Amino acid sequence: MTLLQIMPEDAPGTVELRTGDLDVIRKELLGIGVRLERWYAARPLEAGADDTAVIAAYRSHIDRMKAEGGYRLVDIARMTPAPADPDWPERARPAREKFLEEHFHDEDEVRFFAAGTGCFYLHTAGKVYAMVCTEGDLLSVPGRTVHWFDMGERPDFTAIRFFQEEDGWIGRFLPDSIASRFPTLDALLATP
Ligand SMILES: [Fe+2]
Repeated sequence: MTLLQIMPEDAPGTVELRTGDLDVIRKELLGIGVRLERWYAARPLEAGADDTAVIAAYRSHIDRMKAEGGYRLVDIARMTPAPADPDWPERARPAREKFLEEHFHDEDEVRFFAAGTGCFYLHTAGKVYAMVCTEGDLLSVPGRTVHWFDMGERPDFTAIRFFQEEDGWIGRFLPDSIASRFPTLDALLATP
């Protein structure tokens, strides 16, 4: 479920807007310089498609994005549980916690979800924009935008990542992160 929930930075329990309407989401995000696109695969992707197949399915979108943003490097990040793996939440915890606190990068954070779900929390203009991305969503967050990312208690996604420089993705973490006060991905999805 693609979803945007906006909360004041000092009132995590107050929901100013919660919507799955793509047009409304795009407009709200454009107001803070963030872009959301919906991409469609050139051919249907089978479950378990390898990196080459994922890249091939979205080749035209990828080439356009690289040209527009000057992204030189593209890779695929996967967090995929083995079927019926009871230890997955525990094994995935270190990866989840890595970006759960507020940080920024010198370059843009550009992610396309070929499968699965993840939530970007954009902290800007006195608000927190919780953007839940799912299959088909491309999110482009400008460099130096303060944010955090939650892949949830049972991480499961395949994402294409775009980079300008080899080390441009390195996170610079803020000393007084507000992230833990806000609803997690699982809490956002559990809310009717
Ligand atoms: Fe980040």
